[in-house]
Amino acid sequence: FPNQYFREQLLQWYEAHQRHLPWRESKDPYRIWVSEIMLQQTRVDTVKPYYQQFMEKFPTPEALAEAHEDQVMKAWEGLGYYSRARNLQSAVREVVNTYGGEVPQDPEEFASLKGVGPYTKGAVMSIAYDLEEPAVDGNVMRVLARVLLLTDDIGKQRTRKHMENCVRILISGTPPSDFNQGLIELGALICTPKNPSCDICPVQEVCRAYDQQMVEQLPVKAKK
Ligand code: ADE
Repeated sequence: FPNQYFREQLLQWYEAHQRHLPWRESKDPYRIWVSEIMLQQTRVDTVKPYYQQFMEKFPTPEALAEAHEDQVMKAWEGLGYYSRARNLQSAVREVVNTYGGEVPQDPEEFASLKGVGPYTKGAVMSIAYDLEEPAVDGNVMRVLARVLLLTDDIGKQRTRKHMENCVRILISGTPPSDFNQGLIELGALICTPKNPSCDICPVQEVCRAYDQQMVEQLPVKAKK
């Protein structure tokens, strides 16, 4: 697989076509973290106004740590999956109490916090601290399944692990924040679940699914 070509095409495309989203205006790890938690089960357009409000109410880890739980729940109202908010506040309290209010820069330390799974770990560590960590969500799995023609069930743990290993290779030597957000963005804007825009895709030339006319059949997700 032509790694270097893929990296260059993706980064060039991301630079030119990325959406200007509120959480892309800052490298503050706390702000990135909040955005990634909100974005995990909620779409971008829904998240935007909640994110802006949440940041005004709780601009720092200290502000969120000190808030009453009902204030936090009130700010989360409408986003759903409330355990995300409870876990976030409890993790942020630990950051304030144990790490002096600084989000740990060590991926394993960060991942030990409540509600921080492999995706959140990779997203925050790469976007805020530019560490070469994979951030594999549903968007990224779809892009990789197609580009690399991976036909394993994306619902399986070992498929995700395999994809994380693929990203570790692809991301090396790139600006990690742009690389990971480029993958997410390609999945959101071009390599969509239905009617993907292959004709304007920056990596069409190296996409194995495109070559094999398998784009619409991928990714494979076994029924539960
Ligand atoms: N979905 C998850 N993370 C995202 C990000 N950083 N930008 C846009 N969409 C996302």
